[in-house]
Amino acid sequence: MKLNRVLVMNGPNLDMLGTREPEVYGTQTLAALEAYVLECGVRMGVEVDCFQSNHEGDLIDRIHNAPQHYDAIVYNPGAHTHYSYAIRDAVGSIDTPVVEVHLSDIDEREPFRAISVVAPACVGQVKGLGFDSYCEALRQLAARDDLVRLGEGFEARYAPGQVMFGEAAQGGAGAAGGGADAADAAGADAIAAALAAVPDDPQAQGAASARRIGLLRSRMADLGLDGFVVRDTSNIRWLTCFDDVFDSERAHALVVLPDQVILHTDSRYGAACRQAAALIGADIAINEDRVAHGSFAVAQLAELAKAGALGAAGDAGVGADAGADADTTAGVRLGIENDITLAEYTALSKVAQDAGVRVLSTAGIGVGLRAVKDEAELARLRAAQAITDAAFSHIIGFMRPGMTEREVQIELEDFMRRHGASDLAFSSIVACGANGARPHSVPSSTKLEAGQCVVMDFGAKAAGYCSDMTRTVFLGEPSAQLAHAWDVLRQANEECEAMVFPGVTGKEVHEHAEAVLEAGGFGGKMGHGLGHGVGIDEHEQPSVAPRNDKPFVVGNVITIEPGIYIEGEFGMRLEDCGVVTDEGYKRFSKSTHEMVII
Ligand code: DQA
Repeated sequence: MKLNRVLVMNGPNLDMLGTREPEVYGTQTLAALEAYVLECGVRMGVEVDCFQSNHEGDLIDRIHNAPQHYDAIVYNPGAHTHYSYAIRDAVGSIDTPVVEVHLSDIDEREPFRAISVVAPACVGQVKGLGFDSYCEALRQLAARDDLVRLGEGFEARYAPGQVMFGEAAQGGAGAAGGGADAADAAGADAIAAALAAVPDDPQAQGAASARRIGLLRSRMADLGLDGFVVRDTSNIRWLTCFDDVFDSERAHALVVLPDQVILHTDSRYGAACRQAAALIGADIAINEDRVAHGSFAVAQLAELAKAGALGAAGDAGVGADAGADADTTAGVRLGIENDITLAEYTALSKVAQDAGVRVLSTAGIGVGLRAVKDEAELARLRAAQAITDAAFSHIIGFMRPGMTEREVQIELEDFMRRHGASDLAFSSIVACGANGARPHSVPSSTKLEAGQCVVMDFGAKAAGYCSDMTRTVFLGEPSAQLAHAWDVLRQANEECEAMVFPGVTGKEVHEHAEAVLEAGGFGGKMGHGLGHGVGIDEHEQPSVAPRNDKPFVVGNVITIEPGIYIEGEFGMRLEDCGVVTDEGYKRFSKSTHEMVII
């Protein structure tokens, strides 16, 4: 709304600021508070008048007269908050919007303070930000139109947080500090466009599945394998191209034979798999037999061998009319992936041995094939990134000093899920101050404090693919040390992204990041690798790390994420995700590299 003049009112005992409970309210006086709020007003071009009284009647009179002089009231009713229906009625009697503010977080103190009888008549409530509660109230008033009163029971409609506004309930966001503001609206448009760009052609998906199974078969031929059993669900998802079927369970085995492909699953997934196969026209049989995956695969091979339908068995001179199973299967080779459990391997080996089938363990075939993405996969990755970018725009408008890491994490993840994410790519990291020095810090009840930086590493899953992005934001003007570290980090990120081309190795890019960090005074302060592949899983091939001297190829999707970690002090990371093309690295992430100060 257009704010010209605002009345800032303080109720009983706030004249005692400076000496009153300094451990709760600080040591600054009411005069300092009023000067601070006046200053906020000057910066916003708003004229601010201040009034304080210990007397209910005087305060009520000022409220009654306010509409003649002011566009809004920012009001800390002090203890009146918790019991004065007279103040509540006064606020309810005028149309001028009133925002209730508190220096402390009244929800986190004695239970009686969590109750405000005044707030339902106000258009918003801001608490726990100290002097900034008043400035935040001014900012919110200026940013919002169509303000409505919070109303009875308002607390239940909001996520925990310091900022609640009536408008948010109307907009349906229902989140603290929320409301569909311009950034959220732009994000929603970008998400819609990115999701719409994901090809929706079942036949093309069926063709992609056939092509990918063909690639696997040619690897099988190289290794002289008659059959292959895929147990990794992400590999199965990639090979089948079935959408909206698989969850995180390793409940399936894809058995790839010379002339047929069978998905061995169970009754929880069977119908959905059949439907997905029919939709895309995939020539994949679905089987729900209640036997172990290994026994199923071995039995399929043994049957083919018996029928003389296997090249290797044939080579071994064993025909359909041979005697015992073990004879007919002599020389039959079944490939497995080496990431199955030892228990499963032991059981499979025994069954295979009894049937005379040789088991060959292979490493990285599935993930190796997945390392090169096709256009349809790139569209899915971009959609996941659009959600992640929108979540970043949203969260920087939401987060404030005084919130906990968990509160920020919950808001971030809730936003992604409500804006198109089918799932999270991984559990988000929100780490402030010294917690940021631990790259995989788990969000906790630690509160964000002014002067710190906050590392946020998060990603959405959309259309079956992941995004992964890290941004570090600053709570207030950063110190010279933090500002310098950010400059060095950004340089490392941008120089590395600029050197990514087909033919360059992960090792070379990683070493360049180390060199930039060292030249900036942060040598040895990045313990982890510079990046990794991303796709159906958040961590895929190729890695961007000292051990990878395999050149990148067109279609590799990788993160570039240099970090600086100073134990006990701070941490920061700047991570993008993008694709290797002939023209270099094209990043999916659109979120700024500029320093973001909140
Ligand atoms: C207060 C909180 C109230 O509970 C208390 O009675 C006050 C100050 C605050 O600003 O935190 O007087 O409104």
